[in-house]
Amino acid sequence: PTHNIASIPGDGIGPEVMKEAIKVLRAVEAIHGDLHFTIDSYDWNCKRYLETGRMMPEDGIQTLAPYDAILFGAVGSPEVPDHISVWELILPIRREFQQYINLRPIKLLKGIESPLTNKGVDDIDFVVVRENTEGEYSNSGGRLHIGTPYEVVVQNSVFTRMGSERVIKYAYELARKRGSKELSVATKSNAINFSMPFWDEVVKEIGADYNEIDAGFYHIDALVAFFVSKPEIFNVVVGSNLFGDILTDLGAAISGGLGITPSGNINPEKNYPSMFEAIHGSAPDIANQGIANPIAQIWSASLMLEHLGYPELAKKVVNGIEAALVEGEVRTPDLGGTASTAEFADKIIEEIQKE
Ligand code: NAI
Ligand code: MG
Repeated sequence: PTHNIASIPGDGIGPEVMKEAIKVLRAVEAIHGDLHFTIDSYDWNCKRYLETGRMMPEDGIQTLAPYDAILFGAVGSPEVPDHISVWELILPIRREFQQYINLRPIKLLKGIESPLTNKGVDDIDFVVVRENTEGEYSNSGGRLHIGTPYEVVVQNSVFTRMGSERVIKYAYELARKRGSKELSVATKSNAINFSMPFWDEVVKEIGADYNEIDAGFYHIDALVAFFVSKPEIFNVVVGSNLFGDILTDLGAAISGGLGITPSGNINPEKNYPSMFEAIHGSAPDIANQGIANPIAQIWSASLMLEHLGYPELAKKVVNGIEAALVEGEVRTPDLGGTASTAEFADKIIEEIQKE
């Protein structure tokens, strides 16, 4: 089979790590034998913005729509305000392609130190499912009497039945696929008295179709504490847009940090392409030195393989990353080594080929 992939390397270390992720995909093609990726690269980045006034061409979304998936690097440059680089490229893609799931594996790979390692924690392996389109980030509200002592500010959260049901259903399906007995649910229904009780209700309604899985409700304040004190109890965690945002960044912090953590922006119906990206930015401080850690981007490519229907190949890639880490000699400076981005990626590829 052939899959058409759009690659958007972006700025800074984006292109450096993208190059290595594509090398890994080529290695995966060879392992499979009958798999082919057509990879078209689009230079939609801050340099282009400075030259043309646009991050992507006017018909950018139409250009991407026919692809099977999008592999995204990172954008951002000191000369371009962040709200432009993010709002004019990443957010339109997420929105137009109805990528309503933000998927973040939180897995502490062997050979990686977590800030919790010296607390005796070594078993972190769960997935956070974040609602990616509505909730607290809904652009609804306003300000009255601005600047006066009577100023009033309202920021609304918007929870729709469809929007809540689809993300919770996705989370239950994932819990079933992972053989989990519990779906852990971020809530705050003791204090947020409309949206969160509704969210909990939808969890119970959808849960009726998943008898073997219990819903575990955790108030967000307690949940963040458990992420740190006993992360081993989690398997699949689902949260609204804001709660999911907080949980995913905390999850990255306890499982090895920015150079490691991948993400997927998923359209589960597959009527539009999904997008896979490292969660780190363009890292201008280390760009052009060839020392960026390629793991987050390679792992993102692995999530893409899984989405395209190759879970075994996806697993080989993660196992290869882990094997390279365990061996430990070749690693980039952020992990205490001296290897270049390319040397580290080549080591990972060597291990993938042994898997
Ligand atoms: P950043 O993630 O680019 O960098 C934060 C720190 O982590 C830096 O010290 C950097 O060197 C390090 N780091 C990040 N990725 C690394 C890797 N793969 N290997 C080794 N070290 C790594 O975040 P920062 O500095 O806040 O933002 C820089 C630019 O990136 C900004 O313009 C920002 O808007 C943009 N950005 C873009 C994102 C995206 O494209 N999705 C996400 C986050 C930030
Ligand atoms: Mg965040």
